[in-house]
Amino acid sequence: MSTTVGDLLRIKGAKVETISASETILEAIRRMSEKHIGCLAVVTRAGKLSGILSERDVLWKVIAAAKSPKTNRVKDAMTPLKQMKTVSPSQTVEECMALMTGRRHRHLPVLADGKLAGLISIGDVVKFMLDAQQATIQSLEKYITGTF
Ligand SMILES: NC(=O)c1ccc[n+]([C@@H]2O[C@H](COP(=O)([O-])OP(=O)(O)OC[C@H]3O[C@@H](n4cnc5c(N)ncnc54)[C@H](O)[C@@H]3O)[C@@H](O)[C@H]2O)c1
Repeated sequence: MSTTVGDLLRIKGAKVETISASETILEAIRRMSEKHIGCLAVVTRAGKLSGILSERDVLWKVIAAAKSPKTNRVKDAMTPLKQMKTVSPSQTVEECMALMTGRRHRHLPVLADGKLAGLISIGDVVKFMLDAQQATIQSLEKYITGTF
């Protein structure tokens, strides 16, 4: 049976680092730097997902456009929800990988019944694939050498 996004979140953790659209880009950069992450989920006061702000959004829409991170706001650079893909906990890790590579998204927010329930990055998917591959190799080695 395929591993689902829900399974991955149980291993990785479901906490999502968020920011409001009215915060400055500088505050968003500081928060990403403190947490060692490459994106923030942008949420309304009620905690509803309205988009994401990624390192790439900041680089392309603020830095490359010679705008100031001190005065520009998250809402000026974020990728709105309608322009991105989200996944549900029941979707498979393989589906996430296909979405990420096909649509060039490095982060996918997870929505359960319309509520933010986690966030998956390309690194999470790659780590999962590597771990699964390693487990297959080990069980094949045990089978071949008769040590299972
Ligand atoms: N060893 C691991 O478990 C692991 C997992 C993921 C990534 N990585 C490595 O980290 C580096 C950067 O990773 P990346 O490009 O996938 O992106 P990233 O730096 O944005 O993500 C790093 C980790 O932070 C989490 N994360 C990112 N934004 C988050 C948010 N707003 N809320 C909650 N969690 C958030 C991701 O899910 C991921 O687990 C790569 O070198 C990658 O291989 C390692």
